[in-house]
Amino acid sequence: MTDSDVEELSVSPSAPSGQAKFFLGFDFGTTHSGIAYAFENCPEDLEVIQEWPEGGNNSSQKVPTLISFRGDTALWGYMVNEMKPCIRGFKLLLDKSKNLSYGPAIESEAIIQSLDKKPVDIAGIYLKKLMSHARTILCRRGIESVLDTMDVQYIVTVPAVWSDKAKDLTMQAARLAGIPQANLVLLSEPEAAAVDAIRTIQPNSITQDDCFIVCDAGGGTVDLITYKVTQKDPLRLEEVTEGTGAICGSTILDNAFQKLLIETISKTHYDQLSDEAKRIPMRIWEKDIKPNYAGQDLEDADADDFLDAGYIIPVPGVPDCPEKHIRNGMLYFESEQVEKIFRPVVEQIKSLISDQVLGAKLAGIPPKAVILVGGLGSSEYVFKALKTCFTGMEVMQPRNA
Ligand SMILES: Nc1ncnc2c1ncn2[C@@H]1O[C@H](COP(=O)(O)OP(=O)(O)OP(=O)(O)O)[C@@H](O)[C@H]1O
Ligand SMILES: [Mg+2]
Repeated sequence: MTDSDVEELSVSPSAPSGQAKFFLGFDFGTTHSGIAYAFENCPEDLEVIQEWPEGGNNSSQKVPTLISFRGDTALWGYMVNEMKPCIRGFKLLLDKSKNLSYGPAIESEAIIQSLDKKPVDIAGIYLKKLMSHARTILCRRGIESVLDTMDVQYIVTVPAVWSDKAKDLTMQAARLAGIPQANLVLLSEPEAAAVDAIRTIQPNSITQDDCFIVCDAGGGTVDLITYKVTQKDPLRLEEVTEGTGAICGSTILDNAFQKLLIETISKTHYDQLSDEAKRIPMRIWEKDIKPNYAGQDLEDADADDFLDAGYIIPVPGVPDCPEKHIRNGMLYFESEQVEKIFRPVVEQIKSLISDQVLGAKLAGIPPKAVILVGGLGSSEYVFKALKTCFTGMEVMQPRNA
């Protein structure tokens, strides 16, 4: 979400005309969130915040969407020890109309209830932390006063498929965070991703009147929209189709991995593991196996033996079971098993893209490219699968999307 482009994407100003605005945007994600700000009259100076409390010296455009409590004090983002019980995936708890199956969010729901709170309260606490961090950074930049002296347009992103109830709860969470409702707009995630994506791929092959699909495949949802470029410089976009999407983000892969893990070691043995022993294989999956999985290169048949090296995963305390390849607290998965985890999610993404292609064709503007963004959108496997499927279009993966 940005600058003048935001305005083009139908974010309406609430200020008296003539007064320049200051945009402060929160990308409230299922697994990671971000903050960006810009002055209306200097859109090219958009800053995406990269410093986070306890984030170390590594700069990162996003901070984990995590909350935990130490007494009454809420810890957030990088302060939270993921290996200990914490509240995650709470964004998905805002939309109960979707059939929620994300394990960590269900576990978090129980923690939230035990604290006598609701998901909206946790979202409010998290957004308040983001808001206060934004203030800290603006203060460091010497421009904190803009929040009190300028007309501020606050923006919070929501998935394309969010129900009205979920949008309302997002607004409530923002209110709890102290964001003035009159100055707040909710921006659909694929719209927010679109401007960023096309800016990143410019000046590549996209020119005026080109039509492209933006597919933001994140942690919770996959959100899509199709735009036509009506002007290249400054960039102006016109919506060709409505935003669509589904809850088939990367956390669905995590669920499927956990299911395979439980099936393999048996529910009885799984239930006997310590919480920490349960978290270790999940962490290896999320940090190592999943992001690096690129699929099997079928063209290189001779290399089959090497490519199917599979994965050895520690599960401390799991009893040996040679017929299930479990020995000395380690289990083994073949890459074929990992592919089976990815396949249904990729099929769903293909079908969502096909619907957008159809919508754009019906509008008389066949899309030239699909631009993949978001965490799951950065997957090599997803990229290759979409390239093989959509041969008539370019499939693009912008840097830092
Ligand atoms: N290469 C990869 N392959 C698959 N998944 C990935 C890869 N890289 C990151 N991820 C996953 O992507 C997710 C983070 O992506 P992103 O920040 O776009 O999501 P989000 O904004 O938190 O979610 P959403 O927008 O759906 O609410 C995490 O679940 C992470 O594990
Ligand atoms: Mg996101």
